[in-house]
Amino acid sequence: MKLLVTGGAGFIGSATIRHAMRDRGLSVVNVDKLTYAATPEALEDCADSPNYTLVQADIAEKTNIEVVRFICAWMDDRYPEAGAHEDLIEFVTDRPGHDLRYAIDPTRIRDELGWAPRETFETGMDRTLAWFMDNEPWWRAIRAGRYDGKRLGSK
Ligand SMILES: NC(=O)c1ccc[n+]([C@@H]2O[C@H](COP(=O)([O-])OP(=O)(O)OC[C@H]3O[C@@H](n4cnc5c(N)ncnc54)[C@H](O)[C@@H]3O)[C@@H](O)[C@H]2O)c1
Repeated sequence: MKLLVTGGAGFIGSATIRHAMRDRGLSVVNVDKLTYAATPEALEDCADSPNYTLVQADIAEKTNIEVVRFICAWMDDRYPEAGAHEDLIEFVTDRPGHDLRYAIDPTRIRDELGWAPRETFETGMDRTLAWFMDNEPWWRAIRAGRYDGKRLGSK
């Protein structure tokens, strides 16, 4: 059996993983952001095992479809007369060089330069979407000229 542990490089997670692997013989996938709280050295015994996989990722990260649904809900809220925007979602096959995720880890600029974001995902998206809707002539001209919305990067 394979066990998925999130935050497994922390205090409780690493003890759970050690127990699962050593005492129960389980395979473990550990999804951990490796924040300041992580102590991956607590898993040194397990690290080289073929039954252990560490995936450095943020479990709070949004998936592409979550972002699309956020945009649809925002549009529904502003333009209810246009109907349910989620009905416009179309699932297509990935392009050969498809980007699976866009993410940055700002830990260093946060810790070393004291940077902090001024916007949350929600406030930033709200301002961005409002800008596009308030500047429709700008993007309409692009859609009418050099980019008509065709899918790029696939044959
Ligand atoms: N330790 C306790 O006595 C205790 C008691 C009750 C509840 N809890 C809760 O249990 C949980 C684990 O506790 P702990 O003591 O092991 O914490 P911890 O701080 O030692 O470890 C947390 C781990 O989660 C990782 N992490 C943080 N944000 C993440 C994200 N967005 N995506 C992926 N990984 C992320 C960190 O890198 C770290 O390795 C916490 O929610 C804590 O509040 C702990």
